[in-house]
Amino acid sequence: MELNDLLLNLKMIMFGGKGGVGKTTCASSSAIWAAEHGRNTLVISTDPAHSLGDSLGIELPAGVPTPVEGIANLTALEIDPKANMAEYKGLTNVNPMEEMGMGGMGGLMDNMGMGEIQEFADMTPPGIDEALAFAKVLELIETEHEYDLIVFDTAPTGHTLRFLSLPETLSGWIGKILRLRIKFSKLFGSLKRMFSKAEKKEDNTLEVLERMSNAIENGRRDLTDPDKNSFVVVMIPEEMAIAETGRLLNELVKYQIPVSNIIVNQLYQDQNELCDFCKARREMQQKNLDKIRDLFINKLGKNLIEIPLFKEEIREYEKLREVGEFLINSI
Ligand SMILES: Nc1ncnc2c1ncn2[C@@H]1O[C@H](COP(=O)(O)OP(=O)(O)OP(=O)(O)O)[C@@H](O)[C@H]1O
Ligand SMILES: [Mg+2]
Repeated sequence: MELNDLLLNLKMIMFGGKGGVGKTTCASSSAIWAAEHGRNTLVISTDPAHSLGDSLGIELPAGVPTPVEGIANLTALEIDPKANMAEYKGLTNVNPMEEMGMGGMGGLMDNMGMGEIQEFADMTPPGIDEALAFAKVLELIETEHEYDLIVFDTAPTGHTLRFLSLPETLSGWIGKILRLRIKFSKLFGSLKRMFSKAEKKEDNTLEVLERMSNAIENGRRDLTDPDKNSFVVVMIPEEMAIAETGRLLNELVKYQIPVSNIIVNQLYQDQNELCDFCKARREMQQKNLDKIRDLFINKLGKNLIEIPLFKEEIREYEKLREVGEFLINSI
């Protein structure tokens, strides 16, 4: 499917690739195009080093979906990993004894031979901020919402791939917490009644975990469904970007994420007035463009979208809209 069909028909589109190649620019431009073609669009940055607000030329308070002034149907959001941590504190900092108001009873538990308590307490996995930020995004996608299309501006490749592998990490982790929770609740059922303080404490952890677990499962299904999601690879015509794109495409196959379009950005145009430096760069780019055609377009059957190098920096509505035209019609 070509990009305009994707933007008009899918539920999600993710823009990803190497650092600095134009992911944010392409995500913003596509989101504007979709919004102006009648789709209620949310553009989300999942890159902790956000630049979506800068690209759109608006202030985006972390974690708050903000309507983009002057563009009907467009809302933008930069996710806030820290806010997620606060919301899920009860899950990431699990100490069953404290939770049940029995903080002083660790010794008793040791005597009972409960090595799992330590396991429980040690279970906060590395990279949990990221994992929870991802879970939050999946929850947003999977909860009833008003948007027809969600456009993702992702972080540079390595980070995004870790992000896409998180459903596996998360569901393993949640399953483990759930099993231990159930075990503990049985074990402590009788003890708990002896401690009035414990009874007052409300525990909605199971509910939160269940919600998260459902969102992850449905989210993973949607991310891999070509009728719902497509990953658009953004690159520049350089040797290093070709190598990285190859690796990225392999990983996307591994995670079963559909890819049908590759954007080659920042192309020098053939103009009479090109200086020697620009001519040399154009030549280098054209050689690499041939390789890209051979490797990714002809062999893998992806669509190629070519975007020229602009004289100006690309920011705010007018320029983004110009890029949008190239995204739809190529050079
Ligand atoms: N075709 C282009 N012509 C001229 N400038 C461009 C073009 N595409 C992107 N730029 C500029 O290059 C810079 C990087 O673009 P952008 O922020 O979209 O890249 P990115 O891939 O999102 O970067 P990061 O990996 O840091 O998130 C920006 O200043 C943008 O204006
Ligand atoms: Mg970016």
